[in-house]
Parts: sequence; C-alpha cells; structure tokens
Amino acid sequence: MVVSPVPNTARILDYWLGGFHHYPVDVEAAKVFESLYPNFPMVFRTLRDYISRVTRYIESQGIEQFVVFGSGLPTCGNVHEAVPQAKVLYTDIDAANIELGQKILRDNPHADYIFCDATNLDTLDRSVIDRVLGTIQRLGMVFVGVSAFIPDDTLAQMLDQLYDWAPAGSFLALDFDGEALAQYQRVLELLNSMGAPLHMRNPTTIRPLLGRWQLTQPGIVPVSAWQADALEKPAQGREQVFMYGCVVYK
Ligand SMILES: C[S@@+](CC[C@H](N)C(=O)[O-])C[C@H]1O[C@@H](n2cnc3c(N)ncnc32)[C@H](O)[C@@H]1O
Repeated sequence: MVVSPVPNTARILDYWLGGFHHYPVDVEAAKVFESLYPNFPMVFRTLRDYISRVTRYIESQGIEQFVVFGSGLPTCGNVHEAVPQAKVLYTDIDAANIELGQKILRDNPHADYIFCDATNLDTLDRSVIDRVLGTIQRLGMVFVGVSAFIPDDTLAQMLDQLYDWAPAGSFLALDFDGEALAQYQRVLELLNSMGAPLHMRNPTTIRPLLGRWQLTQPGIVPVSAWQADALEKPAQGREQVFMYGCVVYK
C-alpha cells in the first residue's frame, strides 16, 4: 500500500462511511476531527444518504445521465451505486481523488472520473462527457459537500453558468452548510487553519444564490428531512444535521 503523506477530505469521509480507501494519516486526521465533534461520522453518513435519495429522485424523473461535482470518492453509496442503471461522470479538483476514483471505476463501462473545477465549467473536457454519457439529453447534476468552500458571488455565478449549460428539463441537487455549524468554534478554527474557510448559510440567504433554477418540493430543508420518508433505513438514531439541501430544475 502506498502511504499518502497528507490527509485528504474524501478519504477521511471514506473512513467515516466504513469504506476501504483510506490511509493511516486519514484515520489520524479523522480522529482529531472527532475529538472536536464526535458526530462527524453521523453527519457524513446522513449526507451520503441524502446523495442517494436525491439521485434516485432525479432518476425517477426520467434522467439517465449524471455529472457529479466535488465528488470525493466514488464509493459507499455515491451516485453510480445509488443509480446503477445510469451513466455517471464524476469530477473533482483533487488529483489524488481523480487518480483513485479512476482506479475504482476502471471496470465500470458506465462511469468515469475526470478533473473539473466546479467554479469554471470550461475546465470540463466535453469530449469525455460525450464518451462517458453519450449524446446529452436531460442531465442530473450533483453538487454536494462543496458549496461551503465557495463564496456567495462565485457560487451564484457558477449556478448561473450551470443553468445556461444544462439542457432544459435537467435537475441539480445541492447542499449548504447551515449557520448552526458556527457553534462548533473549534471545528471551524481547525478547518480555517487548513485553508478551508467555510461559508455558512440559511434558507433565506441560499434562495437568491439559486438564480433562475426552480425549486422542487420540499424546497430548502435540512438534508436529513429531504424526502425522509424515502429512507430505506429507519430514521431512528439519525439527528438533524447542520446542512440544508434542495433539488432544483431547469
Ligand atoms: C467534503 S468533500 C465532499 C465529497 C462528496 N461530494 C460527499 O458529499 O461525500 C468535498 C470535495 O469537493 C472537492 N472540491 C472542493 N472545491 C472544489 C471545486 N472548486 N471544484 C470541484 N471540486 C471541489 C474537494 O476536492 C472534495 O473532494
């Protein structure tokens, strides 16, 4: 096994989600985070459940092609596992995620993983989209776990660019870190010291960022509450987490 010198967010999540694609440095970092906020594994399990539910909802609207932004690792209930009949293109800015993601998906003819900076769609290689997804019909897009790293003006601009790019009838699933995170001051200090200043929002400040995108039901709600009746596992033991989520369409 190659030992990675620096911890990586996606591999820390893999550890918390019970996956097999992380190194001792990731486990050490995960334990530091847990010492500050023991609910972290539960938060990211709740978020991964949310990804599964929104993805299945979007598929139920007749969508067979997905692009995922800020994907992390394609494991533990990520998009292609939630909708195995669909074609899925994962993207991220992190070279280690892309390399490992491509390895994980190497035998999967319906999914691949490439670079894209979500804040600039011009960084997405359109020829790979055609190869992996075929001729684009209506798209399902997933943008979960990323918006907290992006300031308001850039995020609004990105969602606008995405709206222009997506064919009519496309859907986009998002999440946002809520302001309740501010009560975990030591967690924020740690994240900020790692160069990841977090942007926290509430439904009132999120709505204007969505621009021309139309909200589906139930609107902007805590991710644990988004169509919670569609949860396969009982909701028991799941706490409300500090992220908000919504699905929008064009
Ligand atoms: C917290 S992880 C979320 C992973 C996964 N989507 C999930 O929710 O479990 C955030 C991911 O976003 C990626 N990321 C951060 N900024 C990005 C950007 N501007 N464009 C694309 N990916 C980005 C990071 O590399 C990381 O893999």
